[in-house]
Amino acid sequence: MSTASKLVAVIPGDGIGPEVIAQATRVLDFYVAERGLPIDLWPIDLGADRYLRDGVALSPDVRDRISGEASAVLLGALGDPRIPGHEYARDILFGLRLGLDLYANVRPVRALSDRLVPLRQRGASDVDFVVFRENTEGAYAGIGGQFKRGTRDEIAISEDVNTRRGVERLIRAGFEHARAHRKRRVHMADKSNAMRHAHELWHRVFFEVAGEYPEVEAKHLYIDAMCLELVRDPSAFEVIVTCNLFGDIITDLGAALQGGLGMAASANVHPRVRGCCEADHPATRVALFEPVHGSAPPLAGKDVANPLASILTVGLLLSHLGWDAERERLESIVVRALGEGKCTPDVGGELGTRAVGDWVVHELARAFG
Ligand code: NAD
Ligand code: IPM
Ligand code: MN
Repeated sequence: MSTASKLVAVIPGDGIGPEVIAQATRVLDFYVAERGLPIDLWPIDLGADRYLRDGVALSPDVRDRISGEASAVLLGALGDPRIPGHEYARDILFGLRLGLDLYANVRPVRALSDRLVPLRQRGASDVDFVVFRENTEGAYAGIGGQFKRGTRDEIAISEDVNTRRGVERLIRAGFEHARAHRKRRVHMADKSNAMRHAHELWHRVFFEVAGEYPEVEAKHLYIDAMCLELVRDPSAFEVIVTCNLFGDIITDLGAALQGGLGMAASANVHPRVRGCCEADHPATRVALFEPVHGSAPPLAGKDVANPLASILTVGLLLSHLGWDAERERLESIVVRALGEGKCTPDVGGELGTRAVGDWVVHELARAFG
């Protein structure tokens, strides 16, 4: 690898992961071979098969090479019915999200075709917001335990851990995004009426940070009311900041507004905001990109999974690495794929996963003429 090139680790994972990531990788291959982008792909065999074969989830050598050398990781999905406890999937996914301190899970919710918006009298222009989901703590901290398991007296506890630093940096990243992209408002969803300790912190810090961004309107909704409003009038939202669990849930709701999980892309990043970053932390160099969807076991191996979420995710990755125009280029190709029916059945087409990839790569070649 030449010193100037960027190393992108690729973890296809389980289920439909390898099928959709194969198409995403073809897009990256095109940029390397035809456009000379200085990217080296590093395929990594991690997932359920590997775990069942030799007990390896995220090995220390892979983790160290990612944090020491990679610029980005592209991940398909993890989850396999043969391993119902999901321990290897958590080790890999949270090993990267938490291990690299990728505190912001940025999930754009943008409909790319009117016909994909499932709401009556709403079109694509009504669905265009971005969720900043806290990605390193909250209900995902893994703190808790079970006591007297399997007895009538059993107790199960999962703590919701919210730190001032963790909450503040995520909220600040949302406001910085709003300022940089000239958005008018930021919404925050919590459940401070019920979870009064942890979520009172979110409420207080949100309005404290908002005070530093007077040009941006700060609006609070309880999470249940936000779910209602997202369906009633998605056009009211531009930027949403929220905790880990609520962000997970509302981005599946958001995916439904976009045309399904086959259309939803995401980036796990560590934005540099005031008071949050150590300059030499690996998180300032490595980011993780993945479609929002999971491994969809019933679809696996059938060439029916929609690869567009992964292809849009490549757009986020290229933009992060400094090739911002490619995000827009890929997005406009996806818009045309949907318009011309060059897509999989979940979004109204008749093509298979691979044929959609063929079409996208062909259109990319045409775009560069
Ligand atoms: P899922 O996202 O795999 O599937 C939910 C629904 O969306 C299903 O109906 C599925 O058919 C559909 N779908 C998902 N991706 C699609 C695509 N690309 N094209 C067309 N349809 C698509 O969620 P699930 O069924 O709740 O979970 C399955 C497994 O995936 C579980 O093990 C879960 O833990 C795991 N999971 C992993 C990730 C990840 O690795 N980031 C994310 C979510 C779920
Ligand atoms: C996602 C997934 C994961 C999450 C699961 C697989 C742990 O649902 O990326 O949205 O909850 O973060
Ligand atoms: Mn999810």
